[in-house]
Amino acid sequence: MLSRENLLEKMDTERIGRNVLYLYETDSTNEYAKKAALDSPDGTLVVADSQVKGKGRLGKSWSSPHGKAIFMSIILKEHIIPENASMITIVAAIAVLKAIEGITKDAAVKWPNDIVINGKKICGILTEMKSSGMNSQYVVVGIGINVNNTEFPKDIADVAASLYTETGICYDRTEIICQVMKEFEKYYNIFLRDNDLSGIVEDYNRNLINLNNQVDIISEDNVYRAESKGIDERGRLIVKRCDTGVIEKIVSGEVSVRGVYGYV
Ligand code: BTN
Repeated sequence: MLSRENLLEKMDTERIGRNVLYLYETDSTNEYAKKAALDSPDGTLVVADSQVKGKGRLGKSWSSPHGKAIFMSIILKEHIIPENASMITIVAAIAVLKAIEGITKDAAVKWPNDIVINGKKICGILTEMKSSGMNSQYVVVGIGINVNNTEFPKDIADVAASLYTETGICYDRTEIICQVMKEFEKYYNIFLRDNDLSGIVEDYNRNLINLNNQVDIISEDNVYRAESKGIDERGRLIVKRCDTGVIEKIVSGEVSVRGVYGYV
């Protein structure tokens, strides 16, 4: 069962997740975290058992059934320059991947921030920031992990999965949350030390789906095929265009990347 007490008892970190705000139900843990941010210490973790208005990227909603999955947001108050905030999404993605390594070795990262197993998405990350002047006031990193979900809404049933659907085993959400906090703290400290992702790139690229494979790069007015070469130290996806051979660096948010045969 998820509770503040159980989470604090198992939390093995120095500052990330040392303060926990547990909610039985909320609109969105990201929205709650943004309201709580100014009065909460750095590293505060907001966790909910369900969300009635879970938010995904690009204005989409996030399926948030009660008691089955993980819905959580970390409040970060270290000053971060706004251009670097999107890198925290990459930090969170590698943290989730490492945290579930003990459960399955079949998980991989789909750039920039989806975790997939057997070609289906089991985790999404939504980073939001409030900045004033040159620095962030706070960053909220929202992480949704499908853990024991048995079914999904029709519109995402083809591309969504959970740890349960892919392994046939139910998992303790408290243990996974605490493991994600531990890995996040480790990689976040590396990011703060380097002020970029140079200390993380290797780990990330090793786990990147489609590395050295062809992908379709899709923007509002253009689609082209390219070979994925992994991320650089700023989290941009390096690709080599199949038509011209030119190397391009893709910024997340500007385009989406699809496998040649579908979602991955
Ligand atoms: C995506 O579209 O891939 C991002 C999904 C992010 C979902 C998580 S669940 C916890 C946090 N609260 C939200 O409303 N969204 C994020």
